[in-house]
Amino acid sequence: MAKVMLNYLLLATSLLLLLPGTAADGHGQDAIVESRGDIPAIGLGTWLSPKKEVKHAAQYALDTGYTHIDAARVYGNERQVGKGIKKASLKRKDLWVTSKLWNTDHRHPERALRKTLKDLKLEYLDLYLMHWPVAFKDGSTVDTRRPITETWRDMEALVKSNKTRYIGISNFAPADVDAILAVCEICPYAHELETHPYLQQQEYVDWHTARGMRVIAYSPLANLNPHYDSGLPSILHDPFWEQMAENKNATIPQAVLAWGLQRGTVVIPKSVHEEYIRENLGALSIVYGEEEMMQIAAQDRKVRMNNPGREWGVDLFDGLDDPTVPKREDEL
Ligand SMILES: NC(=O)c1ccc[n+]([C@@H]2O[C@H](COP(=O)([O-])OP(=O)(O)OC[C@H]3O[C@@H](n4cnc5c(N)ncnc54)[C@H](OP(=O)(O)O)[C@@H]3O)[C@@H](O)[C@H]2O)c1
Ligand SMILES: *[C@@H]1O[C@H](CO)[C@@H](O)[C@H](O)[C@H]1NC(C)=O
Ligand SMILES: *[C@@H]1O[C@H](CO)[C@@H](O)[C@H](O)[C@H]1NC(C)=O
Repeated sequence: MAKVMLNYLLLATSLLLLLPGTAADGHGQDAIVESRGDIPAIGLGTWLSPKKEVKHAAQYALDTGYTHIDAARVYGNERQVGKGIKKASLKRKDLWVTSKLWNTDHRHPERALRKTLKDLKLEYLDLYLMHWPVAFKDGSTVDTRRPITETWRDMEALVKSNKTRYIGISNFAPADVDAILAVCEICPYAHELETHPYLQQQEYVDWHTARGMRVIAYSPLANLNPHYDSGLPSILHDPFWEQMAENKNATIPQAVLAWGLQRGTVVIPKSVHEEYIRENLGALSIVYGEEEMMQIAAQDRKVRMNNPGREWGVDLFDGLDDPTVPKREDEL
């Protein structure tokens, strides 16, 4: 009986977390009608989601309880994501949409955002991120004459012109974050970065919280993205997580995402399958004890899955776990 009650309580809390603008934000009943809320704890990822499938995935997610979609111009599927959003029955104010400024667009963020808004069929975004702290001239030649602080200035103008409610950053090293914090008039709402049980970066996560920024955990399911080649076996076959999931009467993805939520990050698992999309929401009703959180912390592998630094010829993630290893003389 107690267990059932607890589950109901947890579910109720979860739903409050999921729905922006509810009483959970402390503003009471009026806020439900008037204000659009804070970033929802779970969002649907869309990287590598095929055009033919992502429209249904987005619509299905939004009709199943998700209120948050993570998109990007460079994913090449924003038109289809937009169609899915349109077909879903959520009101715009109850929905959170994030998109990202691609590297080739650092010199014209307004033009890039206009295109994204047109594709997504939206009047405004909730969050627009600088996808990488790297500007490209064209293709993938690095534009060393375009400082990220100047791109940030232009992104601030997008908030002033009401094209996005918030702006933020993604894949920044600590020095890059500091550079923005030193000049920002409108400061980053969130930093979207790779973090999961195999690349926990707990200190870096806490560092952001202390500076008033939310952390959005990308690739929250560690090495499930088939694009990644980490050398580690799939987390779905990790004996530690098999045991933990069993203890929590959950699936491994649910248990992993629940940890991401409990440590204060927003998680954005991607799927194009109805059953996974539904399953992942189950993370909201799992709660860990302190002892369990410590056991999970001890499982960190410090392995980064997503690091295009070498390919682009830039050193990324300086000062963090598993940064870009610069090419040796004989490799140049
Ligand atoms: N800012 C950035 O630079 C950046 C970089 C990477 C990712 N992201 C964002 O973060 C999102 C999530 O990261 P990600 O796509 O790299 O990886 P992920 O969400 O951690 O994992 C996605 C993979 O897991 C599978 N999956 C999802 N739920 C599952 C479940 N319950 N059981 C079994 N398999 C499941 C998916 O399968 P199916 O798709 O086949 O259903 C997909 O292959 C991206 O889609 C993107 O929106 C941002
Ligand atoms: C942006 O929205 C605010 C609040 O609704 C309004 O006062 C302001 O005039 C708008 N600015 C522009 C440039 O549209
Ligand atoms: C475990 O989870 C399943 C599926 O969600 C549920 O049907 C079952 O009642 C749960 N068992 C316990 C002991 O909570």
